[in-house]
Amino acid sequence: MIRKTAILLLAAALVAGAGSLTAQTLNSGLRGPAPLNEEGAAAPMAPNKNTAEREVRNYPEQPPVIPHSIDGYQIDLNGNKCLSCHARARTAESQAPMVSITHFMDRDGQFLASVSPRRFFCTECHVPQSTATPPVSNNFVDVDTLLSRAAPGGRR
Ligand code: HEC
Ligand code: HEC
Repeated sequence: MIRKTAILLLAAALVAGAGSLTAQTLNSGLRGPAPLNEEGAAAPMAPNKNTAEREVRNYPEQPPVIPHSIDGYQIDLNGNKCLSCHARARTAESQAPMVSITHFMDRDGQFLASVSPRRFFCTECHVPQSTATPPVSNNFVDVDTLLSRAAPGGRR
């Protein structure tokens, strides 16, 4: 008898638990409304940002992010689409910023006549930006903000 009651109680607790789980998954953030035992449909990929506005760098050494879309741009043994606009000789026509002088240096600091092989694969360092809203926000602050906080009477 005692055993039966215990089992019934356990079953009731499980049902209640399942109920609250469903409620939880319904308003859960990252995985969306799909129940825990099912795989939801993948969200559609957001397109890349595609603007002419250059973004502020978060620190001086940061490779600037790419403000325009790079869909279908080839970078391989046979060619580098990026250099068709960003190479020194192409900038008048493209109005793109030239790759900086550091991109001509080999690892010993010697300047080469053209872009150094170690700077050839642009997207190792430069990345396009997605228009997706980040599911988790970021609280990074740059050094200027830190300095203004540290200064006497600075903002907090
Ligand atoms: C059709 C010409 C063209 C091509 C191809 C191109 N870009 Fe650009 N890029 C530009 C122009 C023009 C700008 C300046 C901002 C604007 O007008 O969009 C720019 C801006 C940038 C910037 C921002 C620079 C800064 O100081 O903020 C980066 C980084 C960049 N491009 C990298 C790339 C990479 C990497 C590729 C190849 C995957 C590439 N670009 C291909 C024309 C081009
Ligand atoms: C190993 C990392 C790396 C690779 C690979 C690389 N870059 Fe950069 N790039 C940087 C960094 C870091 C900066 C900022 C500091 C500097 O200028 O060196 C930069 C700066 C730039 C800038 C801004 C120049 C300016 O004066 O505002 C452009 C444009 C650019 N890169 C384009 C390219 C293109 C196009 C390629 C491929 C041919 C490329 N980069 C490959 C790291 C890289």
